[in-house]
Amino acid sequence: MTMMKRGLAAVAALMLTTGLVRAEDVEVLHWWTSGGEAAALNVLKENLAAQGIGWVDMPVAGGGGEAAMTALAARVTAGNPPTAVQMLGFDITDWAGQGALGNLDAVAGPGGWDAVVPAALQGFSKYDGHWIAAPVNVHSTNWVWINKAALDAAGGKAPESWDELIVVLDAMKANGITPLAHGGQPWQDATIFDGIVLSEGTDFYKAAFIDLNPEALGGPQMADAFNKLMKLRTYVDDNFSGRDWNLASAMVINGEGGMQMMGDWAKGEFLKAGKVPGVDFVCIRFPGTQGAVTFNSDQFAMFNVASDGAKAAQGAMAVAIMDPAFQSAFNVVKGSVPARTDVPNDAFDDCGKKGMADLAEANAAGTLFGSMAHGHAAPAAVKNAVYDVVTGAMNGNYPDGAAAAAALAEAVAAAQ
Ligand code: GAL
Repeated sequence: MTMMKRGLAAVAALMLTTGLVRAEDVEVLHWWTSGGEAAALNVLKENLAAQGIGWVDMPVAGGGGEAAMTALAARVTAGNPPTAVQMLGFDITDWAGQGALGNLDAVAGPGGWDAVVPAALQGFSKYDGHWIAAPVNVHSTNWVWINKAALDAAGGKAPESWDELIVVLDAMKANGITPLAHGGQPWQDATIFDGIVLSEGTDFYKAAFIDLNPEALGGPQMADAFNKLMKLRTYVDDNFSGRDWNLASAMVINGEGGMQMMGDWAKGEFLKAGKVPGVDFVCIRFPGTQGAVTFNSDQFAMFNVASDGAKAAQGAMAVAIMDPAFQSAFNVVKGSVPARTDVPNDAFDDCGKKGMADLAEANAAGTLFGSMAHGHAAPAAVKNAVYDVVTGAMNGNYPDGAAAAAALAEAVAAAQ
């Protein structure tokens, strides 16, 4: 056992036994219900079970977590929050601002979290200088997952630019498959749009989605981004509307679809199906976004709970999540990369190694940005305004990109 692990275990043991407090079962609200997600969640459940901490499952299906956040609000309003909640970005700091979250400093301090959790994540795991959530991973949204055989049949070259992407999509169409496997749900449309906006340039992504600059939101580059989204719409199948993201992944896995533009949780589905990167599928950054990353980090936020047993369970769960060996085991299955900078990449496949290297590179280069689609660029009101316009554009509500960009600038202004 390393010194640090010994220290963490001691803290957890102390919390469990001080004053004869026994950790209660943890009730965990989450939206990890797809095959790959459930497999990753099992890694956490088993880790806690090995420490004698029971798990009460509160799954709320729905990719991206919107339905889960609605269920959470109902529980908090009823004065009965779950012990731990999977949460993203601004949702975490919003709840902290309302005074609803507990304080994890007692385990974060001895665990040395300040030194190992990237600053971009700490922005959401800490509030007012106090730790309020334990980050379990870093996902990123600017990925494309391509069926290798379909790519080979379409010329074999993974696209590196928008023009090359269109060539491959056209070839896949000519080969009789659905070029773009997609589920028409607002968060999925917005996930693709993260990649498109980033491909317009890192300065542009920052101006539009982080700084919410009205000129960037409503200007010609955003118009171009919407025109690209509308072009991609021509490569989906007739049944795309409402489809769950993991069913779109399944289309690429079985060759019915050519590619999916989705965060790296999609890799969890490929792995669950026994597929191997480089052999059965290819992972690339959204063409034109190489060197930059739009990230989202799943964190477990701990709500204010009354009993010492529940508090002890929260502390023990947070310690388990932050354990480097756990971060490796979990993220290998989930498709994401560790939320600590000191976890070796040995256990990761080639896409995971690339994800870790890309994250470090983007962080150093200043090209690491929060994902708008997944709540790390702006609070929920703005995110939902973006969803509305992006989904409207995907469904033909605007005559052209310029009209959609003008609507976006207006919607974001109204939401602030
Ligand atoms: C994201 C979340 C991922 C994955 C995905 C689809 O928001 O960060 O862990 O669950 O939704 O459900």
